[in-house]
Amino acid sequence: MPASSTAPASVADTALAHHVRQGLSHTPKTLSSMYFYDDEGSRLFQQIMQLPEYYPTRTELGIFTGQKAEISQALRPAGNKPFRLLELGAGDGLKTKVLLRHLLEQRAAFTYEPVDISGGALAGLAESLQRELPQLQVEPIETDYFSALAEVRQDAAPKAVLFLGSNIGNFLPDDRQQFLRQLSSHLAPADRLLIGFDLQKDPRLIRAAYDDSQGVTAAFNLNLFTRLNRELGADFDLKHWAHYTDYDPLSGAVRSFLVSRRAQTVHFTALDFSVPFAAWEVIHTENSYKFTRPQIEELAAAADLQVVAFFTDERQYFADVVLAPVQ
Ligand code: AVJ
Repeated sequence: MPASSTAPASVADTALAHHVRQGLSHTPKTLSSMYFYDDEGSRLFQQIMQLPEYYPTRTELGIFTGQKAEISQALRPAGNKPFRLLELGAGDGLKTKVLLRHLLEQRAAFTYEPVDISGGALAGLAESLQRELPQLQVEPIETDYFSALAEVRQDAAPKAVLFLGSNIGNFLPDDRQQFLRQLSSHLAPADRLLIGFDLQKDPRLIRAAYDDSQGVTAAFNLNLFTRLNRELGADFDLKHWAHYTDYDPLSGAVRSFLVSRRAQTVHFTALDFSVPFAAWEVIHTENSYKFTRPQIEELAAAADLQVVAFFTDERQYFADVVLAPVQ
């Protein structure tokens, strides 16, 4: 992904604008789920996490609550050495707070560095941490995962990197492998990486988690258009679009789409760009991969990482896997 350090001359020159021009000129049309998370999208995702059908958050929270001592132990450097606890895509920090509280009770010496693409989510997190855990040292970082890799560079202090919530499921297989390899190359032998993986299970349960009966996931997907209307002067008319999702148990991928319910052309005023859509044409907006344990082991090995601890729930819906560089 091209990262630019200078401010764009106009909206037509932002990363979002480049992405939209490229993704909607492509066949099939695609937009990245990375752009779901404006402040409204982050709020909608908070609602998704509360839905009866959306099991991942609740399950991972259960793993953290039930096994916090073992998880902390697997993450901390030996001999109470000070360390940095980095989290990629921290969001509201619900699960992490369980770990943070435990580490503070154990008098661990560490700084918590949450990384998130949503400034609103980060500010909310910093504020709630200040209130609930005032003794915690926090250094929030507002950026995407790729730029966050720079924060994970090798330095003197050992670090533990958290990548929870099956956020890793959003990557396509090649991108996932490449991302993990890069992450791994920034780790020193004593560093640890904890990744949350949603596991393959009853396909109906998986599908329902991405097509809830209250329509919150639909609103979350469609909010991408509200964002494009606001930020790029687009004229998406939400009533002519629908949310659609499927789960393919062979590839382990949940794929989400925005479906054009009729033939229509969308204009982007800020980009001087128009896109025709045929009736029932789709925009592919998200992948949420589900994993098996052998796939996780293979993914780790290909990134020169080894599994040092594998935490799961009773029903084996979800896994929190601690990885370390292969010596
Ligand atoms: C935040 C990427 C883990 O893929 O399950 C939830 C996002 N999308 N419902 C997921 C999401 C639709 C979520 N992650």
